[in-house]
Amino acid sequence: MIPGALIVTGAGGVGKTTVAAAVGLAAARSGVRTLVVTVDPARRLADALGLGGLGTEPSPHPEEPRLWAAMLDAASSWQAIARRHTEPEVAERLVASPFFAAATSHFPASQSYAAAEEAVTFLDARAWELVVVDTPPAAGGIEFFTAPRAMTELIGGRVLRWLTGGPLPGRRFLFDRAARPALRLADEILGSDLLSRVAQFMMDLRTTYEGVARRSREIEERLRAARVVVVTTADPTPIREALTMFRELPQLGVAPTASIFNRTLPEEWIDAEVDGDDPALVENFRRWAEESRRQRDLRAEFSSRYRTESVVVPWLTPPPVDLAGLARLLDAAPDLTKVATG
Ligand SMILES: Nc1ncnc2c1ncn2[C@@H]1O[C@H](COP(=O)(O)OP(=O)(O)OP(=O)(O)O)[C@@H](O)[C@H]1O
Ligand SMILES: [Mg+2]
Repeated sequence: MIPGALIVTGAGGVGKTTVAAAVGLAAARSGVRTLVVTVDPARRLADALGLGGLGTEPSPHPEEPRLWAAMLDAASSWQAIARRHTEPEVAERLVASPFFAAATSHFPASQSYAAAEEAVTFLDARAWELVVVDTPPAAGGIEFFTAPRAMTELIGGRVLRWLTGGPLPGRRFLFDRAARPALRLADEILGSDLLSRVAQFMMDLRTTYEGVARRSREIEERLRAARVVVVTTADPTPIREALTMFRELPQLGVAPTASIFNRTLPEEWIDAEVDGDDPALVENFRRWAEESRRQRDLRAEFSSRYRTESVVVPWLTPPPVDLAGLARLLDAAPDLTKVATG
């Protein structure tokens, strides 16, 4: 079986990590060897799966034989990426450079690119039949999907090309001969070797271009082949982001397969008969019924507009924060298991 990726995306805080963990659990329980990958500084995946010491390398779940999880840390992913795309000596110099840490943490699509590249590396390892990717919190909207291109543009971009003189052989020689003395002079005036170090860093970064550009194209291809689900709640901001994703992702060749409405109120509330002596209590019920109706209408409008499968995931109390909670979530939302098994 060719391993497949399932990408769980959506606005911040809507329940992407929870849904990714639940879907991963459902897949594993249905017999599919599954890896759930997250970039989650809040360690919610680790908590949700009951894995305290989750690390950057995939580790097997102690209680679920087919479930694996990895929590990427963008900084170490970037070091692995540098080592993958340039000669060892240059990679070590890059990784040791303070500019490398600064550039990778300030590049807006940094976490997204690292997650996408690592996820594809895990897919290529062919050790899992399904890789569920929980998109990073910072990856608002479609950024996860545009990150490979942004990365290629960053390293191959005009500014860096201009500063380093392009990838032609001999340019480095020219740089060494022509630019270095000038930089040395500037550094002498400044009383530091800052400019020379920046220049060295940019030259080194530039050497990763061919590898990164090739890899970015591969990643884009794999993202287009992946199944994508968009998680949202019924709140206006996440809904707006979900609508944007449904509109814009197809332009990138990515077709979302389902919308997942998380933390929904029960539909039974809409027509529930409430009578009682306490007017405040009755009013309270009436408001919740109204909110539940609004959510139902919103889902109906959403599905009719985008004709995708829409999965309803109820609001659980207490929230699903461990393996037993995720199992409860799967019982309450059986369609999540369908999402898991395709
Ligand atoms: N169906 C649910 N019922 C009740 N609580 C839920 C449900 N789904 C998620 N939660 C809770 O909502 C909060 C946010 O969930 P989660 O961390 O999965 O969101 P996220 O989209 O990954 O957030 P971020 O964008 O910060 O990574 C958590 O406290 C989680 O336990
Ligand atoms: Mg998350």
